[in-house]
Amino acid sequence: MEERQVYISGKMVPESQARISIFDSAVMLGDTVTESTRTFGHVPFKLEEHIERLYKSFKVTRIDPQCTADTMLKITQDVLAANLGLMGPGDDCWIVHNVSRGLAIAGADPTVQLGSATVMIFTQAMNLLPWADYYTGGCHAVTPMSRAVPSQSLDARIKNRSRMAYTLAEMEAKLVDPLAQSVILDVHGNVAENKGGNIFLVSDGVLKTPTTANCLAGLSRQVALDLARDLGIPAVETILQPYDLATADEVFFTSTPYCIMPATRFNGMLVGDGTVGPITKRLLQAWSELVGLDIAGQAQAQRAAS
Ligand SMILES: Cc1ncc(COP(=O)(O)O)c(C=O)c1O
Repeated sequence: MEERQVYISGKMVPESQARISIFDSAVMLGDTVTESTRTFGHVPFKLEEHIERLYKSFKVTRIDPQCTADTMLKITQDVLAANLGLMGPGDDCWIVHNVSRGLAIAGADPTVQLGSATVMIFTQAMNLLPWADYYTGGCHAVTPMSRAVPSQSLDARIKNRSRMAYTLAEMEAKLVDPLAQSVILDVHGNVAENKGGNIFLVSDGVLKTPTTANCLAGLSRQVALDLARDLGIPAVETILQPYDLATADEVFFTSTPYCIMPATRFNGMLVGDGTVGPITKRLLQAWSELVGLDIAGQAQAQRAAS
């Protein structure tokens, strides 16, 4: 099988030749910022916005990628172009950026750097199977015992790869139900986010989502808010608690790969009448129109072919 071409610190190489040091701060410290963009019909969606968020993460974490945002955009487009031939006509891919601070020392001071940032960019075939059934049946949203890292320690708006807390939280949710999706609470007990997505509810016709005080400013979250505005659906960013999800008419998650993932159960209780609600469906429909591709249909086609 033909290998992917990946980008690593200045070079495009076949994936089997891409290497980082065991002393890279990505490994030593999980000291890495990241972005995941997806394509629709092989065209990147909101790539400029992803790069903009990446550069905000660089600013706050003081990671120097050694290139401008325009150059990063161009390199990213080159990585995609180099791999387009690997995608089937109905398939799409992720474009992932992982940028660590670079070679660190295994010593007393983790801030001592021996080299410049390690910039890694790769594409990954989009496997939509994990979400395919949720567009119609909805998933089970579950609150794990582990809480989100407070933004006072690591601002949730920094899209980072220090993911042990969120991985443990997701595992805890899956101990309750192997198909559960985590609803991670913050240290105050307010709804924060999913390990890889944002959370919305609909109550009395109003769309509600937590403010970015405790969650990533998800680009899909913003698309959902923009579509709601265009459709005349009132929306607010506010504090939400598990009670609000338990009593909501509709609940869904947003994230780059699946866009909208409806939840029809919350901690074992039915959400609304236990079916995917009308506002969730309208938003998903509008999103499909925006990108010119049947989002649920693409995942379901993968399911049918699997
Ligand atoms: C913790 C977290 N929250 C939310 C999101 C959703 O962000 P986006 O919509 O930009 O994919 C992600 C995406 O990976 C994430 O990792």
